[in-house]
Amino acid sequence: MPSRVLVTQQILQEGLDLLRAVGDVQIEVNPTPGAIWTPAELLAHVPGHEYLLCLLTDQIDAAILGAGAGGSPALRLVANMAVGYNNIDVEAARRLGVLVTNTPGVLTEATADLTFALLLAVARRIPEADRFTRTGRFTGWQPLLLLGAEVASKTLGIVGMGRIGRAVARRGLGFSMSILYTNPQRLPPASARTLNAKFASLEEVLRQADFLSLHLPYTPQTHHLLNAETLALMKPGAYLINTARGSIVDEAALVAALKAGRLAGAALDVFEDEPRIDPALLEMEQVVLAPHIGSATREARARMATTAAGNILAHLRGQPPPNLVS
Ligand code: GLV
Repeated sequence: MPSRVLVTQQILQEGLDLLRAVGDVQIEVNPTPGAIWTPAELLAHVPGHEYLLCLLTDQIDAAILGAGAGGSPALRLVANMAVGYNNIDVEAARRLGVLVTNTPGVLTEATADLTFALLLAVARRIPEADRFTRTGRFTGWQPLLLLGAEVASKTLGIVGMGRIGRAVARRGLGFSMSILYTNPQRLPPASARTLNAKFASLEEVLRQADFLSLHLPYTPQTHHLLNAETLALMKPGAYLINTARGSIVDEAALVAALKAGRLAGAALDVFEDEPRIDPALLEMEQVVLAPHIGSATREARARMATTAAGNILAHLRGQPPPNLVS
């Protein structure tokens, strides 16, 4: 009997090639480019597969994890092609004996690049300037046209100093920014020195950052970490950049802070209820929006595909998958 792998969206060929190189494996890929299966469609497809290569758009709950159990074969491993895995009910997976893996480390630089691109875009009003230029409103250089905020020498506040947070800090350092961070663990002294990064409480980071960037996982503890009260602590005129997870921010409270002019702007790659975007955000010139493309470089997506496939491959070969999260 071949082992059966279900891939819930089309991914880069490199990942599929890796799986196809193994002998007795049958791979089923969602045949429709760009299509995201609904929970019901996913539930209908999973039974009969031992391996599920899924994306952060798939809500992997107990029903899906248990699909096929009792029949044969039951699901054995869920390989999430993402570093975040809040879309998976890890507790249920543990209970049902299904392994879960993610793809850490391979999208760090791509995500840090996008974070910095968004930071610069919102500070220098680049999407707005692009719209302005395209619509024929450029009538000549003007001293007061599209004034933004300088980035150099400002304070970059980083909430979550893991791999991506540190990669963003390195970029900030290149722009002569002061780096202030908060994280459950402090950086080792040598690393803090190299990044010239100072540890502070969340409150202090919020009060001092000119640009606040989020790089922490979404968990029940980080749900709405930025809410009406914490947003009110932010420095007036600061900018928020979120390339982590939408629900870390109370989007309604963010809209209110932007409307009130408390914050100068926000650059968001992630949203509370993706792909739905609060209509108020769509209206605001001082907000830069991206459709969750933090890791969307060809190189990073190829590495994510091979890393996810590699976790399945290891299990097929009777080895421990390298990126087990549970
Ligand atoms: C993207 O958001 C990821 O978690 O990989």
